[in-house]
Formats: sequence, C-alpha cells, structure tokens
Amino acid sequence: SPQGTGGATTGGPGGGARTTKLAIVGAGAVGSTLAYAALMRGAARTVALLDVNRAKVEAEVLDLQHGIQFMPMARVEGSDDVAVCAGADVVVVTAGAKQKPGQTRLDLAEGTIGLMRTILPGLVEVAPDAVYVMVTNPVDIVTYAALKFSGLPPSQLFGSGTVLDSSRLRFLVAQHCGVAVQNVHAYIAGEHGDTEIPLWSSATIGGVPLLEWQGIAGRGPLTADVRDDIAREVVQSAYRIIEGKGATNYAVGLAGTRIIEAVLDDEHRVLPVSTLLDGAYGLEDVCLSLPTLVDRRGAVERVGVPLADDELAGLRASAESLRAVARRFGL
Ligand code: LAC
Repeated sequence: SPQGTGGATTGGPGGGARTTKLAIVGAGAVGSTLAYAALMRGAARTVALLDVNRAKVEAEVLDLQHGIQFMPMARVEGSDDVAVCAGADVVVVTAGAKQKPGQTRLDLAEGTIGLMRTILPGLVEVAPDAVYVMVTNPVDIVTYAALKFSGLPPSQLFGSGTVLDSSRLRFLVAQHCGVAVQNVHAYIAGEHGDTEIPLWSSATIGGVPLLEWQGIAGRGPLTADVRDDIAREVVQSAYRIIEGKGATNYAVGLAGTRIIEAVLDDEHRVLPVSTLLDGAYGLEDVCLSLPTLVDRRGAVERVGVPLADDELAGLRASAESLRAVARRFGL
C-alpha cells in the first residue's frame, strides 16, 4: 500500500494547530464526498477513511492526499482496518446499501441494521469518546439501532436526520421568494424520509414569519398550494437525484460537514438532527429530527420549537411509522 504498512495509508505532514480527528466509515459516494467537503472546509486536522474494500479506500485516500496542497493543512489516512479510526473525535457512519431507483430509505432497514450490529462495537472500542453521527439510511432507524448496539448515551450518538431536508426546504423557499437562502430559517422535522414534515409555523424569511410573508420584488406570498408543492418537492428530491445519477452525495456531504463543524468547533449550533426522544411532544423510544443544540458534547438538548396542531399530528405519524419499522426488525 502507498506510504504505509499493512492496510493503513498515511500521508500529509503532521503537526499544526488543530489536532482533531474525523473518522468516516464508508468510502462510497457519500463518505468520500464528506471527506472532501470536510477537508476543503478545514473541519478536522486528520481525516481517516475506513472501508472494507481496501483498494477503494486506498484509492480515495491517495486522490485526496494529492490535493492537500490546495486545502487547509490536513492529514488523510485510510484502511480496511478499524484501527484507522482510533482516537477519533467524531466518527461519521456512511456505510450501507445504496437506495436504488424506486426504493424508499426504509426498504434498506434490514441490511443496515445488521451492518450496524457488526461494526458499532469495534468502532466504540477504538474510539470510545468520539461523538458518533449516523448518516447511513434509513438514518432514524439506524440511529435507534446504533444506540442499542453501541451502548452510548443519546447525546453522544445521533443521526444527520433532516439537516439535508431542511437545506432543500430553505433552498426552495429562497428560490420562490427571490431572497438569499441564508435569510430563510425553516426546519423539516420527523423522519428523514417520506413522512417528514415542514415546520411552516415557526419559519421566518428575513425576520418575517413565513406564513405572513407577502412577497417582494414582484414575487408572491407562499400560499398553501405553494407550500404544499415545496413540501412535496423536498420529499421527492432524493428520488429525483437517484433516478438521474444513481445516488445523492454533494448536499448530504455538506450537511454532514456542517454537523461535524458544530461538534469539533463547539459551535452550540441548532440543527434538526435525529435523536432519541424521551417524552418530548409526548413521544418516546423513537429517533427522529427536531431542532437540537449541537456542540462538542454532541446533540445535547432539543430547543422545544413550538408546533402547530397539524405539525404535531404529522410528527406523531412520522414517529409511529418509524416505530413500526423498528418493531418489524426486532429493535
Ligand atoms: C438524501 C439521502 C442522503 O436524502 O437520504 O439525499
């Protein structure tokens, strides 16, 4: 293997201010894009990739190492040996089956639950203090299963949830309204999947409640029909992209990087990540997404976003759908 012994591949000069280490499990489209995005944003000092396919992970690592000159200083490592994740501050799990055209994320549950059962104990053994971010789909079921298989507390292991869906929602709202996406604050909650719900009642555009937005520069308000069209397009986004290019990777890689930065830079950022509910909104024993404070300790506290009656009903339906799948697979 290049520059290393055994399966490990090392590269890039050592030292430097940041000593944080990010480990990414799975060097497929999502994992390698996440590694690239994290490196380009200087999110971690060391990025380690783990994949069972040694040739693939070594090739991804080499390709990234050859770009180190053009990115904030970093080390890139990779191996098919879990030891490459040793001492990581954040472990992101992207390994799992790809969603095929027409498949739902929940259709992937059986295979990925088995995979989590296999890999989590070994990861926790080499990186017991890391914050774990599950990205593998179906991410809410995977997060619930990974909590059981890892024995970690719910703040230390959570899922990327609807951070990506919320980004899609904000993009579509910004596009309709003709404002910058950074001026749109809106969340998708619930399942990262078909039962997710937009929290219109708490959304704002430039400080104006979204439901009171009258439109500017010739653009109209967000009528109920427009909102329904946008919500439908958010749910359909991944299916459309998978139909066209076989997988999604850029936006989920960037969403994952945003979560990683919130942890490694102790940002105290509010993100709609998937966590184990313990009675909030009358829901428990299920993982789903709600706006939550994320910092160095992980997903530490939900912010208690107010929900309209229909939003609460949608959240409960989402929870029931996820609990049914968890029960079906004996979780
Ligand atoms: C998506 C995948 C990551 O929504 O579930 O693009």
